[in-house]
Amino acid sequence: MAEALEQNEVPLEILNNEAIYQRELSQIFGQTWTYIGHVSEIPEPGDYRQRTIGEDPFIFTRDENGEIRVLFNSCRHRGANVCRAEKGNTTHFRCPYHGWTYQNTGDLVGVPQKGDGFDHLDADDHSLHEAPHVDEYNGLVFACIAPDAQPLEEYLGGATWYLDMYFDLIDMEVIGDPHRWVVDADWKTPTENFYGDNYHVPMGHKSAIDVGIGSETATGEQESELYGIADCDGHAFSVYQIESEEPMFWGHPEEVVETFNHDVLSPEQYEVARKSGVTLGSIFPNLSFIFLGGRDDPNKDPVGTFCLRQWQPRGPGEMEVWNWILAPADASTEYKERVYEVGMSTFSVSGNFEADDIGIWDGIDEAAGSVFAERVEATTQFTMGTGEEAAATVDDDWAGPGTAYANGGLTDENQLDFYRTWHETMVNEGAE
Ligand code: FES
Ligand SMILES: [Fe+2]
Repeated sequence: MAEALEQNEVPLEILNNEAIYQRELSQIFGQTWTYIGHVSEIPEPGDYRQRTIGEDPFIFTRDENGEIRVLFNSCRHRGANVCRAEKGNTTHFRCPYHGWTYQNTGDLVGVPQKGDGFDHLDADDHSLHEAPHVDEYNGLVFACIAPDAQPLEEYLGGATWYLDMYFDLIDMEVIGDPHRWVVDADWKTPTENFYGDNYHVPMGHKSAIDVGIGSETATGEQESELYGIADCDGHAFSVYQIESEEPMFWGHPEEVVETFNHDVLSPEQYEVARKSGVTLGSIFPNLSFIFLGGRDDPNKDPVGTFCLRQWQPRGPGEMEVWNWILAPADASTEYKERVYEVGMSTFSVSGNFEADDIGIWDGIDEAAGSVFAERVEATTQFTMGTGEEAAATVDDDWAGPGTAYANGGLTDENQLDFYRTWHETMVNEGAE
């Protein structure tokens, strides 16, 4: 793998290989900060949602004291899931097997027939296990199950500069439940795509573009400059900037922009946000997002739609997609409904753009797991923009962290960042 990366190539087989997949579960998802959910999904004490870290089951809950917890969904008696519902509100989780009962702090508070059979049991030693590290960044909750973890903000690194533009400038709220669906594709394929595969847009999304669905920026109706932001501490972004007197703010109309927190960003960040038509990117390992001024009907005005998506590993060459649609919390109910409709019709299970991508991604795992790919040592290649004539140009004046490639659609540096970070994490012996 290291040799292939030096040639800007990646072995195709890593997208469908049992041994590599098992190692990913412990080395990647067992070591890094992983996204759990947004604070607006559990606003009240007792609210909970089932979540996973890799394939491990956890309960994302706000306990009676208002503290956010990520509890391991496994009874301390014989391991059964103590929480069976997708979401809800409860003060306690009662195990369906023998009835051990836990407070939503994780404390064991009830054992049936304790006096007869378990008078020796010390309840304090049998609380639900919980993720050792849980932290929040501007409403985004992450957890890490490694014994030692660097601080979340340090892990996000330069990505915070970009995340602030959406989650600090705007108080965001998740609309509805996450949409979930299973796809025959490896979790790394879409993550790689959202690291910055802008090259695929004119081809892969041609039909949606031709009928005028989606974003004016992405469809080229609005002239924009596309920046690919690489070297951002393992995370990467693509930012479409539009030179215009009119503030862009991803298509949000004036009355929504008025609700923003206008004084929380640096002048440079604010200017990038003001000119942003579309922003997309990925936080390592498997959280991606796309924010765009989108529309589901060429005759209607665009609205600012924010989609957060997580590519959950579910086996070699198989994943479950989780997609959350977010809107500014202080916008009107009608506006939030439009945001949801546009999100559904662009980037979600029934979305036009989504269908384009998934129809392609689900053939890659088939080839990756094939006998012939192994025989010919098939690789995928990431050399775009490296030729003498076609060299991708770095914009030294870019105000944010990372390296900004001005012709962002024509470099593979963003995607290489993903595979370099993936490889470093996979071979990190210190984590075992
Ligand atoms: S497994 Fe939970 S009470 Fe027995
Ligand atoms: Fe796409």
